[in-house]
Amino acid sequence: MAGAAGAQPSPAQTNAQPPGQQRVIDVGRREFDANCASCHGRDGKGKGPMADLLRRSPPDLTQLARSNGGILPINRLYESIEGGKVAAHGPRDMPIWGMDYRVRDAEYYGEMPYDAEALVRARILSLVEYINRLQAR
Ligand code: HEC
Repeated sequence: MAGAAGAQPSPAQTNAQPPGQQRVIDVGRREFDANCASCHGRDGKGKGPMADLLRRSPPDLTQLARSNGGILPINRLYESIEGGKVAAHGPRDMPIWGMDYRVRDAEYYGEMPYDAEALVRARILSLVEYINRLQAR
């Protein structure tokens, strides 16, 4: 055994990240918890605190693959989150996130040049990826 065996770790050592374990920010999860969990629930099952106030109950997002023959319907998901295509089909309880993200990005970036479409796409794709991880298998 090396000489350090049995020694108490110094405070600096205990606070340090274990080697090889970086803190990873889970973008999709953060986005989901901030914007979607109020209705869909943090677990995606549709029982968020706002669910009872809606005319239509939020669907259980963990069953999307199961109810589609085991395959996550990515295009449909993307379009219902983005919202642009279904806006004309009467009132919907689900917010139109494509629009919401565009407005928020414009407020954030102001006069700075940025790629609005790419930013919206990245956020929606991170949500689709997270919802993929929520699927009941
Ligand atoms: C204000 C409540 C509310 C919030 C917030 C909300 N949703 Fe929804 N969502 C609904 C409702 C209700 C539906 C059912 C369709 C409808 O009534 O518009 C729905 C439908 C969906 C669908 C369609 C499922 C399918 O079968 O295709 C997806 C995907 C979805 N939501 C994802 C999200 C994501 C991702 C977010 C966060 C960015 C989010 N929702 C935020 C209420 C909400």
